[in-house]
Amino acid sequence: MPTLIWSKKNPPVGESVAFDTEALVFPQGRGYPHTPAENFLFWGDNLQVMQSLLPEYEQRVNLIYADPPFYSNKRYPTRIGRGEDSRRPSEWQLTTGYADHWPDMDTYLDFLHQRIVLMHRLLAPSGTLYLHLDWHADAYARILLDEVFGTERLLNQIVWLYHGPSPIKRAFNRKHDIILAYTKSKDYVFNADAVREPYHPTTVKTFETSTKAGFGKMPDLMRGKVPEDWWYFPVVARLHNERSGYPTQKPEALLERIVKASSNPGDIVADFFCGSGTTPLVAARLGRKFLACDSTWNAVHISRLRLVDMQAAVPFAFMRDPRFTVPASSGNLELDIDRRTIRIRESPSLDYWEIDPDWDSRTFRSMAQSRRSNRSEKIDLELTLGCELKRACIRAITVKNEQIQKSPL
Ligand SMILES: C[S@@+](CC[C@H](N)C(=O)[O-])C[C@H]1O[C@@H](n2cnc3c(N)ncnc32)[C@H](O)[C@@H]1O
Repeated sequence: MPTLIWSKKNPPVGESVAFDTEALVFPQGRGYPHTPAENFLFWGDNLQVMQSLLPEYEQRVNLIYADPPFYSNKRYPTRIGRGEDSRRPSEWQLTTGYADHWPDMDTYLDFLHQRIVLMHRLLAPSGTLYLHLDWHADAYARILLDEVFGTERLLNQIVWLYHGPSPIKRAFNRKHDIILAYTKSKDYVFNADAVREPYHPTTVKTFETSTKAGFGKMPDLMRGKVPEDWWYFPVVARLHNERSGYPTQKPEALLERIVKASSNPGDIVADFFCGSGTTPLVAARLGRKFLACDSTWNAVHISRLRLVDMQAAVPFAFMRDPRFTVPASSGNLELDIDRRTIRIRESPSLDYWEIDPDWDSRTFRSMAQSRRSNRSEKIDLELTLGCELKRACIRAITVKNEQIQKSPL
């Protein structure tokens, strides 16, 4: 079988790390304080995260969606402040997002290969990996995946089509990505009925009006069809309700199809390049557990906002590589405190704040949260809890994504 060779092709070298629990988050107090965390959001390099998960999760993860940097040689700034509003680029406030910059293809292939090997080890025997790339590196990834999973384990090469403006003038506009789906074994989960969609109206009409259509084979028009391996979903820039301001955010509909097809309720769904948190959000909404990770602070912050804010949000543990430090704000919080209520009287502009009503100086148990609305500057500056405040601690994140902590109160 042909294999891909490059100068530094190495076995995985990530060491495991004892991650700190940055916070146990109980959205709107749900499950506070004792519900054990079954969902995890990691802030760290996924090589160390995956390595650290191996002892507990090897062969246990049912579905992995991976949307790594594409080898595009671009930098992707994140929008902060009112991230949602795409219409006035001149007013955007930008901060460092993530870089998709590589000294050479060898370095990129090394990066990808090591992570594919670990993802393969984490996958359950019936599990599936969806690796999302585009024309920059998909051909190389396909050969790497063949090598790690086996050529016969390619489930689909999915084409995600979209449209939008493009600066390209001397070639056709590049408006599709490639998602390579590989299964760990031949006994894999695929829920065809969960992803059926209506037949095209012309197909329905043809079958209803002609007895010869389909050469006598009549599809179940009511049941609908399993989608083809090319999917059209609008990009997030066109989805007003989903935009988080994070670059390269993927549409929820794309993840919904993947999660429904290749996992069952209660399963573990992982995304080790989670960016703005689309996968954990969709997984939680569909009753799956999640393992999510990103190496940039802005990404995990936005993921946390989305996970706290969603309907029927679930408790999760927010874990941090101890070598990573949360950026601190020099701003201050002026507070009014009652038995059960905290009101912020004065502060820098805030994106998010949360309360641990009984801070033990070690693990922050976030019982109440408030976030700035995605479509306005507004944030609720008063929170009332269902219990008395004992030794309360407050953490607030400014619109510049810096943290202020005040404790104990
Ligand atoms: C294409 S974006 C993912 C976008 C995501 N699917 C979404 O819907 O928002 C790729 C992400 O990989 C992250 N990343 C890059 N290298 C990483 C690493 N070594 N460990 C963890 N995350 C990494 C980047 O910070 C970035 O957020």
